Amino acid sequence: MTDFHIKIGSVEFMNPVFVASGTFGYGVEIPDLLDISKIGAIVTKSISLMPREGNPPPRIVETSSGMINSIGLANIGVEKYIEEMLPQYAQISTPIIANIVGWTFDEYLEVLRKLEAVSSNIIGYEINISCPNVKKGGMEFGTDPETVEKLTSLLRKATNRLLIMKLSPNVADIASIALSAERGGADAVSAINTVVGMSIDPYSHQSNIFTTFGGLSGPAIKPIGLAAVQKVYRKVSIPIVGIGGISSGNDVVEYMLAGASAVQVGTATFRHPDAANQIFDQLKTYCQTQNIQQISDLTGKVKLHS
Ligand code: FUM
Repeated sequence: MTDFHIKIGSVEFMNPVFVASGTFGYGVEIPDLLDISKIGAIVTKSISLMPREGNPPPRIVETSSGMINSIGLANIGVEKYIEEMLPQYAQISTPIIANIVGWTFDEYLEVLRKLEAVSSNIIGYEINISCPNVKKGGMEFGTDPETVEKLTSLLRKATNRLLIMKLSPNVADIASIALSAERGGADAVSAINTVVGMSIDPYSHQSNIFTTFGGLSGPAIKPIGLAAVQKVYRKVSIPIVGIGGISSGNDVVEYMLAGASAVQVGTATFRHPDAANQIFDQLKTYCQTQNIQQISDLTGKVKLHS
């Protein structure tokens, strides 16, 4: 029997397969379509200080082996989130990680403080410093090492809960950004958010996304995610949550071998709402056939040629 428990910071998770921000609502929308108690953790969509309509449509398009989104961080805002979503979490045993976004340091801090001020069973925060779909905010905070360290340490001082910084692949050196998050006191980093992409209709000549550029996700970006996780693993000692194109149990294994302690399933959930559970079942079969005793033993164990 494999032990699937993994630890990030001081939090122990039952299994390493989480669902990614922006692909699973606030965690309470689809309980009839799957057994959410089997999911390792739910990361909510990004929550901002004020409610947001997001970008105009079209804001999502399918591409070869993936999709592009430019939602623009649409969400109900932290006040409504506290009022309407937090009470529902009392019925859920799955760990909830609230994803936070802001347009200034103060905004990030205020959202976090508002969540800290109320009693809830949120176990931690993932900080979105990597959304490519807004002119200001989002990725703007995740491209400069100094800014990342400053923001991380500001938020670190405001919470003892799990603090995960979500990194962008759209930078020159993702490992230095991860190092800044570690120096700022993050418990972990998650990598990667989406890759900037574009899609055009060859007949109408029209861009398929209103904002022209959007974030590419799905199997097309898995090799980019794996490389990012391996680069980050070489540079930091905090855990890494791998994200990008995970759609099978073997994909989870690859991410763990590259250095991830846990993973998030994103785009695959749009094809099958139950994808995370199916992927975990495939991981269990892999571990059984490969005689893996402890899932965490896979982390970072890729065999390199040099
Ligand atoms: O457009 C969006 O809301 C995407 C957010 C993200 O990739 O973080």
